[in-house]
Amino acid sequence: MAPSVQTIPQQDASSEPSIDEIIKKITSLNVKSDGRTNFKGGYVVSDLEKLPAPTKKRYEKYGIDITPGYPQRPPTEDIPIFIEDAKAIRSTPWEFTDRGTKADPEKKALFGAAKEVKHLTKHIGTEIVGLQLSELTDQQKDELALLIAERVVVFFRDQDLSPQKQLALGEYYGKVELHPQQAYVNGLPGITVIWPELFKLFTKISFKTAYNTLTSTWHTDLVHELQPPGITHLHNDTVPEVGGDTVWASGYAAYHKLSPAFQQFLDGKKAVYFSANKYVDRENPLKGTVHIEREHPIIRTHPVTGWKSLYVNRGMTSRIVGLEPEESKVILEYLFSVFEKNLDIQVRFNWKPTVEGLGTSALWDNRISQHFAVWDYEGEQPRHGTRVSTLAEVPYFDPSSKSQREALGLSLD
Ligand SMILES: [Fe+2]
Repeated sequence: MAPSVQTIPQQDASSEPSIDEIIKKITSLNVKSDGRTNFKGGYVVSDLEKLPAPTKKRYEKYGIDITPGYPQRPPTEDIPIFIEDAKAIRSTPWEFTDRGTKADPEKKALFGAAKEVKHLTKHIGTEIVGLQLSELTDQQKDELALLIAERVVVFFRDQDLSPQKQLALGEYYGKVELHPQQAYVNGLPGITVIWPELFKLFTKISFKTAYNTLTSTWHTDLVHELQPPGITHLHNDTVPEVGGDTVWASGYAAYHKLSPAFQQFLDGKKAVYFSANKYVDRENPLKGTVHIEREHPIIRTHPVTGWKSLYVNRGMTSRIVGLEPEESKVILEYLFSVFEKNLDIQVRFNWKPTVEGLGTSALWDNRISQHFAVWDYEGEQPRHGTRVSTLAEVPYFDPSSKSQREALGLSLD
């Protein structure tokens, strides 16, 4: 009997999806499955019922037009889909001089004008009372940069701050980060919207699942950048009646929790840091979306204080360069725990203003800290903020730099 010949039906070439269509399909799937990634531009929410009243009032006062919807994303055609294109944004180093290097070490202009300067804990966090950020002189701004470099995070309650002035303050400190995907205040790219109602559209978060979701994880902002941010300024114009705190931990102090032998092991080593948002790998589009990755020193030197800081965080650090994966995992887990379990190097801040209708600002230095937003209000009360991040230097490690405790003459035990 003659062998039967099976014929394979030929596909009609015209019915095959093009590469563009395949990628479109992948990206549209990820819009639903990945809360951080969204390749659709334009205005996000047309129904503004949920925008808190204090935010609406602030925008009305300062001429922010929300009638077309809110917040705004870059136009779809400007949002990079491919990781190569996203990584190419700001891929050439630029000169950065920290304003803190120009400041009076005694900070007389800033402290002299304040009603009160309160250190909230010994090692991290200071609140300035009686000053409006919108009215600071350049001299005071420089001194504030120095204070942030020393105290890691500085708070100002009862602020009447326009988004335009908040952006201008960030621009005074250097180049402001323009995010290729994230939503910003209408008409003002560079001022990102931090609004749980917005995040809820893309990510499910509940009492049980809050840990390690979105900002409720220990993280440092934008660590995948070639020149990651120094000062980030979050202004919350609306906060819950109870809860909604943020916690920061000091990288200077975390470094000093390590033994000299372990410090020496880490000095000069590098780790891989990744982005929150994801993109399609042009070389392997069917893999789905992937993070941007970048190497930086694990221990970095702050250019203003000259102090060493431990620069790893659970949310955005994947591995230590040069170690076996298992070694890297164990060591990173330990380093994350140093920040997380040592309450003496943390500050927990409640954002409530003392005057109703005014906002509260926190300015922190990402080079020397990580933070965690507590989601205990469970999204039941409104919280809304605007954030400006100023990009700083290419991270570096200076072997001759000292730890904070060495420099301040504190006990090294
Ligand atoms: Fe953050």
